[in-house]
Amino acid sequence: MPETPAEPTDRSAVRSLLRLWPYVRPVRARWIGAALVAVLASSLALVIPLVLKWMVDGPVADRDPGGVWLGALWLLLLGIAEAGLFGLRRWLVARPLAGVEASMRADLFRHLQRLPVAFHDRWPSGQLLSRGTTDLMLLRMFLAFPLTFLLVNGTTILVGFVILFAQEWSLGLVLLAPAVPLMVLCSLFETKYSLVARRAQDQVGDLTTVVEESVLGIRIVKGFGRNRSQALAFRALARRLRTTELGKARLLAGIWALVTAIPELAIGAALVLGTIEVADGTLSAGTLVAFLSTALALRWPVDSIGFLLAMSQEAATAADRFFEVMDVEEEPEPETSGTASGTPDRGIVFDGVEFRYPDAEPGSPPVLGRIDLRIRPGETMALVGATGSGKTTLTALVPRLHDVTGGRILLDGEDISTMPRPRLRELVSVAFEEPTLFSATVGENVLMGAEGASEQELRQALSVAQADFAHQLPQGVGTQVGEQGLSLSGGQRQRLALARAVVGGPRFLVLDDPLSALDVHTEALVEAALRRVLEGTTALVVAHRPSTVMLADRVALLSDGRISAVGTHQELLRTSPEYAWLMSGAHDTGVLVPEEGGAR
Ligand SMILES: Nc1ncnc2c1ncn2[C@@H]1O[C@H](COP(=O)(O)OP(=O)(O)OP(=O)(O)O)[C@@H](O)[C@H]1O
Ligand SMILES: [Mg+2]
Repeated sequence: MPETPAEPTDRSAVRSLLRLWPYVRPVRARWIGAALVAVLASSLALVIPLVLKWMVDGPVADRDPGGVWLGALWLLLLGIAEAGLFGLRRWLVARPLAGVEASMRADLFRHLQRLPVAFHDRWPSGQLLSRGTTDLMLLRMFLAFPLTFLLVNGTTILVGFVILFAQEWSLGLVLLAPAVPLMVLCSLFETKYSLVARRAQDQVGDLTTVVEESVLGIRIVKGFGRNRSQALAFRALARRLRTTELGKARLLAGIWALVTAIPELAIGAALVLGTIEVADGTLSAGTLVAFLSTALALRWPVDSIGFLLAMSQEAATAADRFFEVMDVEEEPEPETSGTASGTPDRGIVFDGVEFRYPDAEPGSPPVLGRIDLRIRPGETMALVGATGSGKTTLTALVPRLHDVTGGRILLDGEDISTMPRPRLRELVSVAFEEPTLFSATVGENVLMGAEGASEQELRQALSVAQADFAHQLPQGVGTQVGEQGLSLSGGQRQRLALARAVVGGPRFLVLDDPLSALDVHTEALVEAALRRVLEGTTALVVAHRPSTVMLADRVALLSDGRISAVGTHQELLRTSPEYAWLMSGAHDTGVLVPEEGGAR
């Protein structure tokens, strides 16, 4: 498990579950009301034996049919009232608890959106997905059922025993005798069960990850004929989960058998002793009937304790898994808001920037060692470097998808680490290699780049990015894009992502090789349009091909974690062999292999 490995041994289920209180608080009145109703209903069940006692010792002994009918009527009424009250309880809690689940889910989602990119690099999406679905459902069920019934059954058992002792204390003691061994057994069971429950829930997460990856990567899976191996992987995980679930069932069956059998033996013993007492004349028949029917009425509350505890354990595990994610710190907001430095150095400035991925090997050199670079206002700087040299990493630092681990980045003289995030993201627009689109309309996907932008701006952005094809789609810009935009061609997706980056005319533009998937003709069109956009902004554009580099005023060469050369395309061609090699295009065909590939 990422970050906090499952260590359920020293954690208390109660403490985990208590953390749910803030979510339950708003519905506490209804929940407590429902619990009281349930307690009342269960207590009614305990009155039934007393009516029986009255019937046996009174009308039955006196052979009075009228009295028997009256007693029967009472029993019927009590039964109806009990059923009605349980129905009322359900009605009381169903809606508020659905609300609790919804608000927890909303919190989780909001939190996931705010966690740093580094967190998402680390955590498999299936683990997050299963927390947002299965675990939250378990928690809602816990609040609706086991929590209430632990309380209700506890109270019922208590009241029941008071009644039992009041009837005949010696027989009461016989029934009470198994309590201690039962409690020991239950606590042993709980410890074991919590371990298995945690394992099962983590395995559900793993399984979800495989399903998600296979569905999202269905093209690759099919294209490479990986169906079988994916299916095998899935089956292996499913089998592992099944083994765990069977283990859970075995544990549950064991405790269930014990919790049922032991009280049964005690009731048997009480029956024998009671019958002897009745024969001796020291106990009335009615009392024995009442005693035994009370004991029988307590059977369900006692029996159910085993699986109520099991469900509570599962809920505690679910709560742990939920809070494991919620406890990860969100991206901190800067305390001071943008204090411009003494000499407002306009443009984008990288000042001794160092970056190392959080999960990098401790001794390894950082991806970016020391980046010093200044992009003048209005200038377009191309960033060129071998594959794996850190270009994407460098561009991700500007919108603070990752935070620099050394040095600073200034936008118009303002340190981005002291800038409120919303402002930073307003200033900087980005488009990445992988054009990510969402299941929304084309228009919504593009306008994500500038909330509240007008129809006119949308049109303009589409035209700049040569994405006018959007108007020809069945419903124009209102056309729904499939999941991840997979219903569009690669080039179409890239142009939409580009439109999203330029909509609203951002001050700073960061483009990570935005033209890689375009055919030569479209590329030329996008470049022509992009030239217009770039005139108005300060831009950093990762470029792999000479044609993209031509858009830029100057070029920076990234190698070995540093900017090793800056200059115009022509200058660098003359002075830097590495640059000349990168631009020669020969490496695309694999004809010319340099001695130092630059890829580390
Ligand atoms: N999330 C990550 N966690 C750890 N290491 C990473 C992560 N992303 C990238 N790296 C490493 O950082 C280095 C630079 O990667 P980056 O994606 O920045 O290269 P690039 O220059 O954009 O390459 P390309 O031209 O192929 O797009 C690589 O060695 C890569 O393995
Ligand atoms: Mg890259």
